Amino acid sequence: MKKDLLKLLDLSREDIINILNVGDQMKYNQKHGLPHNYLQGKTLAMIFEKNSTRTRVSFETGMFQLGGHALFLSGKESQIGRGEPIADTARVLSRYCDGIMIRTFGQDEVEELAEYADIPVINGLTDFAHPCQVLADLMTIREHKSRLEGLKLCFIGDGNNMANSLIVGGLKCGMDVSVACPEGYDPDEKVLEFAKTVTDAKFQLCRTPQEAAQGADVVVTDVWASMGQEEEKAIREKAFAGFQVNAALMALTNPGCMVQHCLPAHREEEITAEVFEAHAQEIFDEAENRLHAQKAVMYLLMGKDQK
Ligand code: CP
Ligand code: NVA
Repeated sequence: MKKDLLKLLDLSREDIINILNVGDQMKYNQKHGLPHNYLQGKTLAMIFEKNSTRTRVSFETGMFQLGGHALFLSGKESQIGRGEPIADTARVLSRYCDGIMIRTFGQDEVEELAEYADIPVINGLTDFAHPCQVLADLMTIREHKSRLEGLKLCFIGDGNNMANSLIVGGLKCGMDVSVACPEGYDPDEKVLEFAKTVTDAKFQLCRTPQEAAQGADVVVTDVWASMGQEEEKAIREKAFAGFQVNAALMALTNPGCMVQHCLPAHREEEITAEVFEAHAQEIFDEAENRLHAQKAVMYLLMGKDQK
């Protein structure tokens, strides 16, 4: 494993599988009350420049369960909001803390933070990637289907941070990946370039949800307007009309097809309430697994054996 978790492009298949295995172990330990205070006395600084419920609660709770402490730094209220350079923030936090989790806009900000920090940096979502979420998704899919390799993962909607990370994570784990995006809303060029290099799994970029959903084992969707795109809401509603996960679309998938949604969900936009509720168990398992997968990431990056 590298020092940081900035994007799944930086991880090997073995790294990802190792995180999932440790995540399963973390979940087992937590459910059975077994001690796993591997990060006793360690502190995680959590920088949030965007809103969050799951990421904040799962990192903070996870750090506590590992015997450590997490502290919340609001982008607005810290000196970051008054323009203190990222490189200086990185060097200061490295003197106090043992790890940094950051949720922000540009991937370049996270990369710069990691370059200047002596301690591990974890990407808690950027406009480009949401690696922790996709690790939880992969953990959930493996939990429900007992494997990843050979399954077909289908993403419907915007070629956003979730699409980018699912394409990379899915392909690295040997899943076939199909994505349906309207023209003009494609995944990032770097991700499409990566997809071209994969030889042991298939990738498809489709213009209709129906084509992408054919024979899928897992359907994933996400909001049409991500954080920071609130002003584009009306334009996006038009562009994404028809890119909805509904019963008719699910009828094209394989029997027992799962549905994943990183949440928050906008019912009757990207997903109908009917499909959401029919798959609520899987979707909330996915939310829960943020905790276990991130505990694995923090242990692997910040645990004393790794120092
Ligand atoms: N899925 C996810 O990252 O949720 P939050 O925005 O609530 O952290
Ligand atoms: N694509 C969404 C994911 C939220 C967890 C966003 O960036 O707002």
